[in-house]
Amino acid sequence: MKNLISTFYILFFTVSILAQNNVREVLTLEKNWKFTKGDLKNAQDISFDDSKWETVVVPHDWAIKGPFDKEIDKQMVAIVQNGEKVPTEKTGRTGALPYIGVGWYRNEFSLPNFNKDKKVILLFEGAMSEPEIFLNGKKIGSRNYGYSYFYFDITEHILANKKNTLAVKLTNKGLSSRWYPGAGLYRNVRIITKNKESIKQWGTFITTPIVTKELAKINVKTKVLGEGLTLVTKILDAQGSLITTNKTSSIYGNEFEQNIAVNNPNLWSPETPYLYTSISQVYKGTILKDEISTRFGIRSIKYEAEKGFSLNGEITKFKGVCLHHDLGPIGAAVNKSAIRRQLRILKDMGVNAIRSAHNMPSLEQLELSDEMGFLFLAESFDEWAKPKVENGYHRFFEEDAEKDIVNLVHATRNHPSIVMWSSGNEVPDQWGSDGAKRAKWLQDIFHREDPTRPVTVGMDQVKATMASGFGALLDIPGLNYRTHLYEEAYESFPQGLILGSETASTVSSRGIYKFPVIEAKMKQYDDFQSSSYDLEACSWSNIPDEDSVLQDDKPWVIGEFVWTGFDYLGETTPYDTKWPSRSSYFGINDLAGLPKDRYYLYRSRWNTKEETLHMLPHWNWEGREGEITPVFVYTSYDSAELFVNGKSMGIQKKNNSSPKNRYRLMWMDVKYEPGTIKVVAFDDEGKVASEKEIKTAGKPYKLILESDQKTLKANGKDLAFVTVSVVDKNGIPCPTATNQLKFKVKGDGMFRAASNGDATSLEMFHVPTMKLFSGKLVVLVQSDEEQGEIDLTVSGKGLKTAKINISTKKY
Ligand code: GAL
Repeated sequence: MKNLISTFYILFFTVSILAQNNVREVLTLEKNWKFTKGDLKNAQDISFDDSKWETVVVPHDWAIKGPFDKEIDKQMVAIVQNGEKVPTEKTGRTGALPYIGVGWYRNEFSLPNFNKDKKVILLFEGAMSEPEIFLNGKKIGSRNYGYSYFYFDITEHILANKKNTLAVKLTNKGLSSRWYPGAGLYRNVRIITKNKESIKQWGTFITTPIVTKELAKINVKTKVLGEGLTLVTKILDAQGSLITTNKTSSIYGNEFEQNIAVNNPNLWSPETPYLYTSISQVYKGTILKDEISTRFGIRSIKYEAEKGFSLNGEITKFKGVCLHHDLGPIGAAVNKSAIRRQLRILKDMGVNAIRSAHNMPSLEQLELSDEMGFLFLAESFDEWAKPKVENGYHRFFEEDAEKDIVNLVHATRNHPSIVMWSSGNEVPDQWGSDGAKRAKWLQDIFHREDPTRPVTVGMDQVKATMASGFGALLDIPGLNYRTHLYEEAYESFPQGLILGSETASTVSSRGIYKFPVIEAKMKQYDDFQSSSYDLEACSWSNIPDEDSVLQDDKPWVIGEFVWTGFDYLGETTPYDTKWPSRSSYFGINDLAGLPKDRYYLYRSRWNTKEETLHMLPHWNWEGREGEITPVFVYTSYDSAELFVNGKSMGIQKKNNSSPKNRYRLMWMDVKYEPGTIKVVAFDDEGKVASEKEIKTAGKPYKLILESDQKTLKANGKDLAFVTVSVVDKNGIPCPTATNQLKFKVKGDGMFRAASNGDATSLEMFHVPTMKLFSGKLVVLVQSDEEQGEIDLTVSGKGLKTAKINISTKKY
């Protein structure tokens, strides 16, 4: 019986068809893709006999398995926006991974229910890049931007009752990105079969023009294909219970418009991410022709001069982070459980907002932001008409920008999480009147497609945008860094508010501390790491505390998006001319998703519900005995006392003598001696509220495993993130351990990847061995489609082996 059941599941999920009342089928093309890749130069020599092509699963990133290579996309450039004037050799700028080349994907599918009354849509949620699409040998279309969502009507090309062959060619040029873009069909590909009389792709637009505690007016616009149709819209609450139904046959052109009342609405917010569902049913007479469901939230947003941003009538500051799209060790291949884990980590930190830098977010990221409660700033471009990199988006801007924005808005506008659009980031077009015209053109497109949300641009050339009118015409002026210009920009721009569209860009490596402890810009060390005392930034950027002052003191500063929530592949500042270095140092969390110290600095301000009490550095400084080794405490409390081996180092209290002193407790004169450091924090009345200790560890002895999930979905893609650390004989964590470890996965899952957060590591993520970095790493274990048990064993020479069990379940 068990076998029978699992055969059923395998059949069902392999095909992965979602049928809704038999009027619409969504086939997600995940398995049995054939893939091959060639050089840009000999792309024409690729053999079309796919018997020797690799079989892959989509979403797929062809470059993430490496190997890392210094020569890949080596760029001899001066990065003008970083203030460079002379070209230097940049290695690792795009991750040193083999993303350049031509890739071909092929898949076969059949549509048994296809007939002359049907319409078939082929949908790509992103394809990196310059996709050219062929069906049954015929080219059906192409796009350019790798981050854009797009679709084609392929009805006339479908072979009924036969196998159809879909082929996709992708071309990635070198010098086309400032970071790791990933490569291939890295987001989902779907085939939607529906009736000719049906709802247009992305044809619903749900807004909530009136929102009070007692009543919400829901405006539902629905574009349809076909004549003489009736639309029924049903609104369901979060439990799936029907609240109200609205039926209409009055159509304006090809669009129905309904205004529906919901009494006592549950409002969507980061704290209460309540979601409703709208079911749209299209009838011809009494025959149901189409049905789709759209999740939405009821919430109101407002941006007001001097006051800022309010959500549901309450002033809310963006406590945000910028995120690149790559997911560290699994690259750009979209994976919902990896994104979910990122968002859980950010939630705990107190983050309430995300900016998708500098491109269209994955639909999965938006769905999770709706569900978990994050405000979203959805961005479109890093380049307009003027280049930052030789083969960047400027090549396509004039022709594609409008259609790429239209698709961005149409595909994502029903997500309540999105509260602002961004048409660009630090575009060189900030100079001159042409740039201002482009800014207006793009903003007008956003307004035309979505009159409910404002538009920003992340500006770094603030003075130039004051002079040209560029900054004044934007709905929301966004400043990237330039804390010294906030006041001037506020006075000069007419909007009466400023967004910190990008802030901090502080650099650090998890668990690495450098001496002496001083603030520095573009600081380099021989090991190509940056110090976790969180005092090092770029020539254009600053430490977190300087932003915090503006955020906390100025009501007209409406929030910030810190660069970045997690480390990402590529952009290895301040080591972009050094090798090996292949990923960023900007993350508040490292590439493995492990928190750096800075995590607690932000948490102490942003997570106002829970206590934060965090101490740094670690206390294993053999050879530094008697030397000055400052201790910092990041805490939600105002004051604390530090003890070294029981001896008081005095009480420190947050104060306004400098931004640092306002947000951190710092004991600058502590001399290192092995043993125990302890911090005791006091509440407002001076009573002991909490304490923490760090002890000097002995030799690495035993491995410890901790999984973020006990149970996975048996769906072939769910991931458990297992943190591996090492402790000494007394169970004290060893913060400097670098042991080489091995991973073995048995049972109903597989080893997917590992990552240790070391930006200089050239170990490949998918090979089941890796060194610890600062005593830790993370192993990603993936479920398969069989329900059962997974065992992960981690071993290392001279260390006690550790094992962890994870169950997998169909539901
Ligand atoms: C900004 C830019 C980001 C990133 C960051 C690093 O100027 O918008 O994409 O490059 O600098 O500090």
